[in-house]
Parts: sequence; structure tokens; C-alpha cells
Amino acid sequence: MKNIAVFCSGNGTNLQAIVDAVESGYIKANMALMVCDNPSAYALKRAKKAGIEIFLLTPKGFKTREEYDRGVIKKLTEKKIDLVVLAGFMRLLSPYFIKKYKDKILNIHPALLPSFKGTQGIKDALDYGVKVTGPSVHFVEEGLDSGPIILQETVEINDADTEETLAERIHEKEHIIYPKAIKLFIEGKLKIEGRKVKIS
Ligand code: GRF
Repeated sequence: MKNIAVFCSGNGTNLQAIVDAVESGYIKANMALMVCDNPSAYALKRAKKAGIEIFLLTPKGFKTREEYDRGVIKKLTEKKIDLVVLAGFMRLLSPYFIKKYKDKILNIHPALLPSFKGTQGIKDALDYGVKVTGPSVHFVEEGLDSGPIILQETVEINDADTEETLAERIHEKEHIIYPKAIKLFIEGKLKIEGRKVKIS
């Protein structure tokens, strides 16, 4: 059975969706670890409730990004992690980390990449006035939100939408496509060919 580590900094609704998908048998893998950089993240409570081992490492005291990442990697190695799932993890990974787990790191972004990269993908789409947005699951490489895209889903934007109402509909779709992408990875059905991800 493959071992998954989910990285979170905040609410953890995606973590919850992944945990539920593992518990129901939809994803046949082991939820081996939850990594967190923020002691007040609600995701910690979710992991605890689900009985998942937590590795809380605050960035304080680490001089560089790589030094912090080496601390995380030590734990991932110990737990024999096969897949790193970023789910609202608000830290950039160092090139060292990305190389070490090449093609084994997934991220979810709340906009249709390559549009609206960065930390405000929902607000930026709304402010820009696009009529359609939606989440993207992609492999992680060194550029921000730039790796090959695995799955995307669309959400229409209405005139009455606020950031909150739009976020709610985007999150609903995230909770469907993230477990689906993880399932595909675990079953060996994703093949990266340049910028493209072939799904078998
Ligand atoms: C999601 O909107 C995801 O797209 C972005 O961070 C948010 C995390 O939400 N990367 P949650 O912590 O899973 O509820």
C-alpha cells in the first residue's frame, strides 16, 4: 500500500475530503502523515480526529527554506512517503524538496491555471470579471502553480457572487477532483509527457 502525506496550513477541508475518500476505500492508500506549519490550523483537529499522525513543524528558528524542508523530508523518509499532497499549504517548497520528490507532489489551486496564480486565485478571478473559473490539480515543479495539469473543473461566476459564495462552490468541486486525482496517481494511471498529463 502506498503512503500519502497531506500538507496543510489552514482549514483542511481538502484534507477531510481525502481522509473520507481513503476511509471509504475510494483511494486505496495509507494516510500516513499530516504535515503542518501552523499551530492554529483547524486541519490539525481534523487529522487528530481521523487518527492520522501529525508532524507539526513551525518555520521559526529555521534559517532557510531548505533547512526547514530537510526537517520535513527526514520525517517523510522515516514514514516511507510515496506521495506528497499539498492541500492549502501556504509555504513554497524549496528546489531541494521538489527535486527529491520529483513527480510525486500534487497541489490544488482554486483557479483555472495558468490564470490567477498565487495566493488569491478566487478573489483575483472575481475581480477580473471572468465568467468561468474553477479548481486545478497539478504536479508541482519549481515555478509557482506551474506544473503539468492533471484535472480541472469549472464553476460559473454569477453577478451576485461574493468571494465567499464563489469560494464555497469552488471548494465543492475541489473536494471531488482532488480525491479523484490522488486515486489516479495511486493506481499508476498518470503519465507526464512534457507539459501534458496522460490519464489511462
Ligand atoms: C483551497 O482553496 C486550495 O485550492 C488552496 O487552498 C485552499 C485550501 O482549503 N490551495 P482547505 O484548507 O483545504 O479548506
